[in-house]
Amino acid sequence: MAAGAQGISEHWSSRTAFVLAAIGAAVGLGNIWRFPTLAGESGGGAFVLFYVLCVVLIGMPMILTEIMLGRASGDNADAVGSVAEVAETSGRSRHWALFGGIEVLAAFLILSFYSVVAGWVLYYVWLSGADFLGAFGAFQPFAPAFDHMSQRQVTGMMGGLFASPGQLILQHAIFMGITLGIVALGVTAGLERAARTLMPAFFLLLVLITIYGAFTGDFGRAAAFLFTPDFSKLSPNVMNEALGQAFFSLSLGSAALITYGSYVPKGVRLAPTAGMIAAADTGVAILAGLMIFPIVFSAGLDPAGGPGLVFQTLPVAFQQMPAGALIGFAFFILIFFAALTSSISLLEGPTAWAMRRFGLGRRLTAALVAGAAFLIGVGCALGYNLWSDVRLLAFWPTFADNDILDSIDDLTGKVMLPVAGLGLAVFTGWRADRRLVEVETGLSAGMFLVWRGLVAWLAPAAIFLILLFGLFPGLLG
Ligand code: PHE
Repeated sequence: MAAGAQGISEHWSSRTAFVLAAIGAAVGLGNIWRFPTLAGESGGGAFVLFYVLCVVLIGMPMILTEIMLGRASGDNADAVGSVAEVAETSGRSRHWALFGGIEVLAAFLILSFYSVVAGWVLYYVWLSGADFLGAFGAFQPFAPAFDHMSQRQVTGMMGGLFASPGQLILQHAIFMGITLGIVALGVTAGLERAARTLMPAFFLLLVLITIYGAFTGDFGRAAAFLFTPDFSKLSPNVMNEALGQAFFSLSLGSAALITYGSYVPKGVRLAPTAGMIAAADTGVAILAGLMIFPIVFSAGLDPAGGPGLVFQTLPVAFQQMPAGALIGFAFFILIFFAALTSSISLLEGPTAWAMRRFGLGRRLTAALVAGAAFLIGVGCALGYNLWSDVRLLAFWPTFADNDILDSIDDLTGKVMLPVAGLGLAVFTGWRADRRLVEVETGLSAGMFLVWRGLVAWLAPAAIFLILLFGLFPGLLG
């Protein structure tokens, strides 16, 4: 069962397995927690529209680029090795692999805080599960969730969790442990089997809860909120937010897609899969909005609830709704499944790199990477209580007020992922061997021109401008 010493010769057993795993990597907290939160805070429609533009014009071509780079490198390589190898085959400097290195580092950093947030989800799985089962024990299977508490008590639970370093770290440890357990099993027995089990269950729950929300909640108002753009809200900062969110949500710029691409068997056509990943990810983000906001509006709550939207606003809403205990429990399980298939990909990227770099076995390497990310995550968790004054990015006006978790989140999402994407877009569009790229992408001549135009011109220019004005708002006067 254990992989070979260098971890090579592991592949997905089928195209479906790859597509499910890649969609699993893409669909996660980014879709269900971050996207609705950002849309809510940035005023809805304009953010959503700009986000979708980023996905279609930059995200989709970049997904194909990253998967292609992974597979083009031949036998299983990691994000660094793949880029280095394609560069070398193309007669270019191996230093282009620097951008692969940024991706590996970004994945590692994201994993550290991702697991902390997923730990909150886990905590709410226990809470809502106990609540539901408690109601069940009393022969009231459909009693509203948390109905024995006041609204203030329900929203206060998140504050209670945040005030408790022990609880935060415990949940973070459990989540990281589960992720590690799966990654240690390898590509087919671990990554692939998890995706095959969790993704169908995830989609089933998503559809059921959305239908529930549509019937019991204020669907019309939610749709209007998400789809009516108010362009006055579209500041450079909001654009940077949307671009970063597109990268984060699609798992771009963070080693996951290159690494997953390197496990794709040669015969599989990549272009259709890239489209499927982008479509599924964006579809889930919008469905998540359509699942969450009707419930929020019908309960008369604030859509700009911030990070507490999912953990405070929704439980209050569930409290007031029919079958709320059951739906609340199902909802947190759904987020947990989504987070797990993503964290697996976040651990796999750095693990694949470290396995090759240090020549260690998969289990040991994965444990070391997960352990290190766990420790940084502990810092993020303490940033909510004991270390709440720490401002890692105090020197950077745009991020000066961020706590530890937000600092790492912004540094990766708003800076590292787009920079890595920018570098690889330039590399693929201008430096990589054109013939190799053409064959690997498997695009028709016409589509190849379109794709190359987006990757060589539009993506670098757009990413550069958005980064420039997003990160240095002073430039606009
Ligand atoms: N795309 C995942 C999400 O939306 C997070 C992620 C980012 C996973 C980068 C892998 C790499 O939750």
